[in-house]
Amino acid sequence: MPITINGVEHELDVDPRTTLLDFLRRDAGLTGTKKGCDHGQCGACTVLLNGQRINSCLTLAVMHEGDSVTTIEGLGTPNAPHPLQAAFVRHDGYQCGYCTPGQICSAKAMLDEIAAGWASVVSDDLAGTPVLSEDEIRERMSGNVCRCGAYSNIVAAIVDVAGARA
Ligand code: FES
Ligand code: FES
Repeated sequence: MPITINGVEHELDVDPRTTLLDFLRRDAGLTGTKKGCDHGQCGACTVLLNGQRINSCLTLAVMHEGDSVTTIEGLGTPNAPHPLQAAFVRHDGYQCGYCTPGQICSAKAMLDEIAAGWASVVSDDLAGTPVLSEDEIRERMSGNVCRCGAYSNIVAAIVDVAGARA
């Protein structure tokens, strides 16, 4: 069964040791997803797997037959950017931009997690609907490292989009 990436089916005819990250970049030609640490520590390789965020360097491509993956290329285009992509530009939420695809994929999933009522370690009420505070955003984005330190602008971009949703 093929894997679907950004709505397009791809055959998983690869060495079974190929990570999903390498499959995306090398075999599917989607180089928007970045390889930072290759060890699950930086978040640069974050993509959406069936709508939920994962580190694509920590999973093998052949484990995802029949799954649906969305990469940064699937969220928006230069002419029709996703609201988060537009907000990152508006707030200058990047410097080198290397971490940005992972940050944006992570932010998309994180906002969906809050909308679904998932608590985090900083949520006051584990049973209630989480309040989208900057503390929540910083905690939930803590798996995405930015070596340039663009964090304050990244948070501002996410607050902007979260506010527009509310
Ligand atoms: S490249 Fe996957 S977490 Fe760093
Ligand atoms: S903008 Fe450079 S690593 Fe984040």
